[in-house]
Amino acid sequence: MSVPVERPRRLRRTDALRRLVRETRLSVDDLVLPLFVAEGIDRPRPVAAMPGVSQETLATCVERAEEAVALGLPAVILFGVPLRKDAVGSGAWQPDGIVQRACTAIRETVGDRLLLITDTCLDEFTDHGHCGALAADGSVDNDATLELYQRTAVSQAEAGADVVAPSGMMDGQVAAIREGLDRAGRAETAILAYAAKFASAFYGPFREAAGSTPRFGDRRGYQLDVGNSREAVREVELDCAEGADLVMVKPALTALDIIALVRPLVDRPLGAYCVSGEYAMLRAAGAAGHLDEAAAVWEVHLAIRRAGADFICTYHALDLARRLAGSR
Ligand code: PBG
Repeated sequence: MSVPVERPRRLRRTDALRRLVRETRLSVDDLVLPLFVAEGIDRPRPVAAMPGVSQETLATCVERAEEAVALGLPAVILFGVPLRKDAVGSGAWQPDGIVQRACTAIRETVGDRLLLITDTCLDEFTDHGHCGALAADGSVDNDATLELYQRTAVSQAEAGADVVAPSGMMDGQVAAIREGLDRAGRAETAILAYAAKFASAFYGPFREAAGSTPRFGDRRGYQLDVGNSREAVREVELDCAEGADLVMVKPALTALDIIALVRPLVDRPLGAYCVSGEYAMLRAAGAAGHLDEAAAVWEVHLAIRRAGADFICTYHALDLARRLAGSR
């Protein structure tokens, strides 16, 4: 009888042994909680496709941030849902805009115990729902949009954002924002670039949450085509060259290969965004009893880390943080 020479199963025998040899771990330190803060509502408004996620009022947004601090989460990423929208999304850079007010209010309450990241984009603020200003032909005008991103980033930094996160996939957006911040004396503000962001059906529930569904067309004219990995690498390299301090890949599950590909190529912290549709999918399958939701959520996040992500923006952050606090 021939017996195997290698016996990897030796190291899988007990839970203690498996814990000792586990190569990748999940930690509360790796998780970023996304928060939606809405203007003109007096109580949280649940997002139908995302059970457990709501548009928050200013007050409940601060409560969520306090909860995040209590659970040891290092950061939140803020999205604004304004009352009024216009063609250029001017609500994004108003000093008393909803994101700016949320930054100020959270900072007043939790100080530096929580990193404040702001999504720097215009889609929540434009009446047409696109991520930038439109050209006469209805396409998004790249270069005209850059100046609006600069204003938005500076105004977010002035309201107290530690990190601005451009997510619009305009060419040159990182360089433009860096220049705008530096000119405004905000050299300390970091940039988290949504560097490789694919045009994805998995953002559907977010657009309900943020009220940012495009009125016409789609985002394929600026977000990456799902078939392209070399182009994704190029986008990440460009953002690093333009001065991104941290880079992110999005979505997570349909881009695990991109995370793994990019990881050895860049020396910046690398994030992944486990997006609204991924959350909705897990919650729905769990609620229907089709899978063990807690186990599936854990597995998804561990796999994202295994692929090479240092940190994960995820709507499961509070839940995972609670479980991490309860475990060893
Ligand atoms: C754009 C933005 C989007 C998301 C983050 N920033 C929406 C989009 O590109 O359509 C999606 C996040 C998610 O789906 O959870 N401001």
